[in-house]
This record gives sequence, structure tokens and C-alpha cells, in this order.
Amino acid sequence: MYPSPEASEHALAIHGAPPAKRRPDPPMFPGGMAIDQEEEEAVLEVLRSKRLFRYYGPGDTPSKVEALEQAFAQFMGVRYSVAVTSGTAALTCGLHGIGVGPGDEVIVPAYTWIASAAAVVSAGAIPIVAEVDDTLLLDPADVEAKITPYTRAIMPVHMRGAPCPMDEILAIARKHNLQVIEDTAQADGASYRGQRLGTFGDVGCFSLQFNKIITSGEGGMVVTNDQEVWKRALMYHDVIAPQRAGIPTEELLCGTNYRMPELLGAVGLVQLRRLDGLLAAMRARKQMIQAGMADVARRKGITFRRLTDPEGDAAIALIFFVDTPETAQRVAKALQAENIGASTLYHPDHLDYHVYAHWVPILEQRTWTPSGGPWRNARREIRYHKDMCPRSLELLGRAVHLNVSPLLTNEDVEETIEGLNRVLHALA
Ligand SMILES: Cc1ncc(COP(=O)(O)O)c(C=O)c1O
Repeated sequence: MYPSPEASEHALAIHGAPPAKRRPDPPMFPGGMAIDQEEEEAVLEVLRSKRLFRYYGPGDTPSKVEALEQAFAQFMGVRYSVAVTSGTAALTCGLHGIGVGPGDEVIVPAYTWIASAAAVVSAGAIPIVAEVDDTLLLDPADVEAKITPYTRAIMPVHMRGAPCPMDEILAIARKHNLQVIEDTAQADGASYRGQRLGTFGDVGCFSLQFNKIITSGEGGMVVTNDQEVWKRALMYHDVIAPQRAGIPTEELLCGTNYRMPELLGAVGLVQLRRLDGLLAAMRARKQMIQAGMADVARRKGITFRRLTDPEGDAAIALIFFVDTPETAQRVAKALQAENIGASTLYHPDHLDYHVYAHWVPILEQRTWTPSGGPWRNARREIRYHKDMCPRSLELLGRAVHLNVSPLLTNEDVEETIEGLNRVLHALA
């Protein structure tokens, strides 16, 4: 509980004092807010050339999407990449790429955007939900506990920019002969032990949707070092991609259409060039904020989300744990009153599709037709329930989340630190 305003050494905005931070946080669209003339010119170039389609146009203008694929693969340090229309499309193509399908189980974390699990369902496979630990990422011990004879793949999700423990996950995958599909939607450009995320597993999937680190509004990328996986992802993303990529008809499988348009490719290409700069800006700001609240955190028994590799963290968010969910709600509200864009990560009554307990269509095993869907054809009975990952809910419930915008000024950072100190100091 907060003491009364009179008893508090530092007056809080929630009690009527002027807020520590004079203006609200900038909108948390790191790449989106960086859009300027370069993106405008790139888009105009496409429009003026009239080549709006990745495979051809009226003239001989080179494809922006192809250029993005090459630049993205080079940036990530992989051999192949496929540009698609969304992160969910990237996951769907990635799952088809590694051969996940009906009857297979894929282990996903309890904390991720529902699209990670929905992509598994759309590939005809069954998502199996595993606990996250104090990294708020897949807990390797629970991954191992959730493996069955039907497990085909593990999907580590680098949530809120933080690298999953890839050494442990890859060791489990090797031991049990499983594949790894990385969901890197929220961690473009981040790394683990010096290697970019998305490049550890058999396939890596990225999102360029508007609130991601870099953006083309909508969009996604699939990366891999494996030629077979690339071919399969390519075939799934475009019904006749094989013809275009010189894949023989004997190998042809039916795909769908997730082709990225040239206009998005043009924006994505410019945004990719901004990525390292955005990461550097967020990392510097996060470091200052965390250092500035370290003392009060220590005094109040507050712990930070554990990072497997702090240097590789994309630093889009600062997350800390308080003692109870009630305290987390109160701290977030008090910080909001200080003009600091704080939030909590789980409340049973607040619908939020980032937490498995709210994945209603999955928990209820809903299918498009009465006979269809992965659960009807499962090789064992699958049961889900809201509290099947209690440790994840407990940790998420006590978490307080702050966005770290690359646009925070030095003044904003100082005032954020001041606000955090005020609010946390006032905690009984
Ligand atoms: C972790 C995660 N996975 C997948 C997705 C899906 O990406 P998209 O919205 O581009 O389909 C998102 C974001 O929306 C995400 O945050």
C-alpha cells in the first residue's frame, strides 16, 4: 500500500502532485516514428516505375522485395530469406518449411502473441503450451517436460526483444531430434552471444507489422540456412514460386499466396538500414533508466526480468517484478500518473491475447468445421485449461512493463527515473 500523500517523502502525481515527467512517452513505434523522406522516396520510386509486383512490371526496374530479401539475409547472416505479408504468414511458411503438419505437436511459450500458437493450428498441428521462467521466455526445463512422442518442433519466442536461452533450447532439440522455429517478431536485430536472433533454429520468422522494431506497416520475413526449408517456405508463400525459383515440377507442393508487394518491400528496405541505429538508441536509454532505478529497486526487493544476454537484448522494454499482482497494478497506475507509459502483463479479467490463459479459440479447441482441425485428428487427447501454466501467470501477474522508445530525450529519461524513484520509494 502507498502511504498517504502527507506521509510520503516524495509526493506522487496519483495523489495530485505535478507529474515527474512533463510529457507522455512518444508513441512506441520505433521504426514507424522514424519514417521520413527516404521511405517516401522509396515508395514513390516504386509507384513511378509502375512495378508494383515482386516478379514483374512494365520495365526492367529491379525488384525491391528481392533486394530486401538479399539485404535481410545478409544483415542476419543467413543464406536465404523469403519476404511475406506478415509475421503470422512467416510463421506459417516457416512451419511448412520445416515440415510441421497434422499429428505434430509444437511447443510454444505461455507468454506470446496468440499468432505464434494460431500459426501452429493453421499448419494443422497442435500447440502445446510450456511455462516461461523469470526471463518471461520459454523455460527449457518445462519444454523438456512437455515433450511427447508426437512433438515435432519447439518455438522459442523472443518476447519483448529479449533473447531466449538458445544454447539450452538447441541442446534439447538435438537430444530429442526436434526442429526449432524461432519467432523473432518482437526482436528484429537482437542477438544471443553475438549471433542475430532468428538464425539459430531451422527457421526464423520476423514481423514488419507497424508496432514492431522496424516496419513496413504489415510484412514478415522468413530466414534459414537450409536450402530445403527455403524451397518449401518459398513454395508455401506463392503457388507458383517453384517455377520462378527454378524448382522442378517433380518437387512441387501446393502453396498459397503470402507474397510481399513491392511497396512494402521498398519501405522494409529503408527500415532495415535504420535497425542498428534504433537498437543502439533503445539500449542506451534502457541502460540509463535501469541504472537510475537500481538503488530503489534493491531497497524495495524489486527484481528485473532476467536477461540471457543483456548486450543482445533489443531493449524495447524494461520489465521488473514486484511482490504481488495488486502491487503491480498499483505501481503501473502510479507510474501512468507520472506520465510514464507503464503497464502490467497479466490480469485474469483483462482480455490480452499475449497470455495463453486468454487464447480462447485455442483453449476451447475451436475448429473451422466440425470434422476439421488439429485436435480432432490428434494422436492423443489434448486438454488445455486456463491455469495449466501457473508459474507463468504468477510471474506475468507481478510484472510491470515500460516501453523504451528510441525517441526518449535525455530529459525524458531523467524524468522517468525520477518518477520511478518516487513511485517505488513510496511502496510500503
Ligand atoms: C511474438 C509475435 N509473434 C507473431 C506475431 C504476428 O505478426 P503479424 O502481426 O505481423 O502477423 C506478432 C505480432 O503481431 C508477435 O508479437
